Amino acid sequence: MSTRSLTDALAETGEAIDRSFAALLAVPDDPRAPLYQAMRHAAIGGGKRLRPLLVLAVADLHLVDRDAAVRVATAIEAVHVYSLVHDDLPAMDDDDVRRGKPTVHRAFGEATAILAGDCLHALAFEWLAHPDTHGDPYVRAELVLDLARAAGPSGMAGGQAMDLAAEKAGFDLATVTRLQRMKTGALISASVEAGAILGRVPPEGRLGLRGYAHDLGLAFQIVDDLLDADGDEAAVGKKLRKDGAAGKETFLSLLGPDRARAQSTMLVDQAIRHLHAYGPEADLLREVARFVLDRDR
Ligand code: IPE
Ligand code: IPE
Ligand code: MG
Ligand code: MG
Ligand code: MG
Repeated sequence: MSTRSLTDALAETGEAIDRSFAALLAVPDDPRAPLYQAMRHAAIGGGKRLRPLLVLAVADLHLVDRDAAVRVATAIEAVHVYSLVHDDLPAMDDDDVRRGKPTVHRAFGEATAILAGDCLHALAFEWLAHPDTHGDPYVRAELVLDLARAAGPSGMAGGQAMDLAAEKAGFDLATVTRLQRMKTGALISASVEAGAILGRVPPEGRLGLRGYAHDLGLAFQIVDDLLDADGDEAAVGKKLRKDGAAGKETFLSLLGPDRARAQSTMLVDQAIRHLHAYGPEADLLREVARFVLDRDR
């Protein structure tokens, strides 16, 4: 995949992940049908599929079997989708539109949205731990451990809790950076790490990739904040102008637009520099980093 353009890679990833979710989330002919329809509504069609693309691009660097990589990419995207379904609930951000469609609780009701999120969360770990993912149980256990850490109180969910507090607490830049590392960076790092785990890269060989993921995650969230302030709702596919209205401390509120933009540019340059040990085979990862900066969605 690394020889092709980013546009092709994004499209190819989107199609692979849609197919994978469609197969894994077949609707049963019983009273759980609406639960599965809600999961399919959230998971299939739409989204940049950035996390799956990172898994696949790093897996390709290390010549990992494509079916295994798609399965792992689908599991990580399932955790991301679950986080969005819950993030949109009335008790959290109370949003009506996601990926250009009604949010799950709008389309299926709040109870089904909560349960659809619960199920995507659980299924992600079921898919990772399943023997089809990898023949070596040690590899499967490492994938499960790393994603669990990235999703839980030290990762995404902990970051979401800090994000709720950010509306009242008046956090400083160091605290907002930690919050965003957890809320957004952890799953981005887990995506890169998963490719390295599948590729059986020893931990000491992962430092460049980890540095790349760290800086990319922060840059990604700064751009999310910038898009919240001046993006186009139709392009982004979700309601914008929410952070300022909520009085939430973000990179943008603390740095202002010019310094926030400069910081995201610096972080993306730094992310690319972390890949110095790789040749052209890592060009797709370099292109992904530039996309994170230049994106309009
Ligand atoms: C949105 O993530 C939520 C954040 C972590 C900032 P994405 O911008 O990756 O959303 P999709 O997957 O493309 O819809
Ligand atoms: C949510 O952050 C990130 C998650 C972990 C789901 P936001 O609330 O800023 O995400 P958007 O802007 O709704 O996508
Ligand atoms: Mg939120
Ligand atoms: Mg939100
Ligand atoms: Mg946001």
